[in-house]
Amino acid sequence: MRKHHLAVIGGDGIGPDVTAAALTAVRAAAGKFGFAVDTTEFDLGAEHFLRTGVVLDDPAVEKLREHDAILLGAVGDPRVAPGILERGLIVALRVAFRQSVNVRPVRLYPGVESPVKGVTPENCDLVVLRENTEGLYAGGGSTTHAGTPHAVALQNSVTTVAATTEIVEFAFRLAQRRRRRVTLCHKTNILVHAGQLWQDVVDEVATRYSDVEHDYVHADAMCLHLPTNPGRFDVVVTDNLFGDIISDLGATVQGGLGVAASANHNPTGSAPSMFEPVHGSAPDIAGRGWANPAAAVLSAALCLATLGERDAALALEAAAASVLAELPALAGPDMGATTEELGRRIADRVTTVD
Ligand code: NAI
Ligand code: MG
Repeated sequence: MRKHHLAVIGGDGIGPDVTAAALTAVRAAAGKFGFAVDTTEFDLGAEHFLRTGVVLDDPAVEKLREHDAILLGAVGDPRVAPGILERGLIVALRVAFRQSVNVRPVRLYPGVESPVKGVTPENCDLVVLRENTEGLYAGGGSTTHAGTPHAVALQNSVTTVAATTEIVEFAFRLAQRRRRRVTLCHKTNILVHAGQLWQDVVDEVATRYSDVEHDYVHADAMCLHLPTNPGRFDVVVTDNLFGDIISDLGATVQGGLGVAASANHNPTGSAPSMFEPVHGSAPDIAGRGWANPAAAVLSAALCLATLGERDAALALEAAAASVLAELPALAGPDMGATTEELGRRIADRVTTVD
């Protein structure tokens, strides 16, 4: 029997709850589609950091590396300064495992209400691909004369042909399996150096995919087009910062954080990819059972698809969508069921839906 080894980092706040619900659904899918999953839980996140002073050490990285994929809930805790866990764990793993492509589907499921008028399941089905290791997030910079009126902060942005080509290739391959259209989103009119490199790479890669159309939209214009005309996009490829922003815009368009899923892909397969809901640890609702696990379940579906379990992935997505459609509210006390109950309901639906 096929067997997949999953590393599980529940993390903080609602992270462990939504991840447990997602695993309930994944196990149901495994049972139905004839494969096995075994899981290793990693005790990482705020509690671990407060207890040990360590966010992530090399032995943990090497142990994670032995797995086929990583499921992550969320990290972040009001007791820990912002960035320590988020950068120290998530960004560190994206870099250590060369997860250079962040995949964020923006899909409005039937029965889920978009806050944007005119957005329908028929016109809202696109994927944002965000470069995940470079750009302004590469981290370099300096501050001089800090705390004085002469303070100067420099924040460097890194763009390489290698990483850009990797994600642009990924975009064209994905578009071939979808509606065959790639849109580069950048700010080539202002960020001329990075922008030219991106455009050159897209133009070069496009010559090898003559069956895929490509066009270009500025990042600011994307903030107008994505909510008002999502149907014009199929695969959007963009840099780290723009991708962070427009994919959150996409999450809003598709009904909010309760339904937004993501994958951090290592396109070469040299290390595990990591799958996580877009939302954070939601300390405001943690421990109450008010978190919607759909985003975590949909992220787990992306994981199964990557592991080659396409039928199980489609079943998991369909089950999550069908449960989402019947919720009176997408989050909070009005959801009509707890996180755990929703996990079980999605799992039941996986086994009964065709
Ligand atoms: P958040 O995504 O945790 O929460 C934003 C709002 O959405 C809150 O009102 C929350 O209750 C609600 N929400 C989020 N997920 C939900 C779900 N599944 N069901 C129902 N409601 C949900 O973002 P916030 O509050 O800015 O950050 C909280 C912590 O999470 C911070 O420490 C932040 O750094 C961290 N964070 C971690 C991320 C990660 O692990 N990838 C991503 C984003 C934030
Ligand atoms: Mg973000």
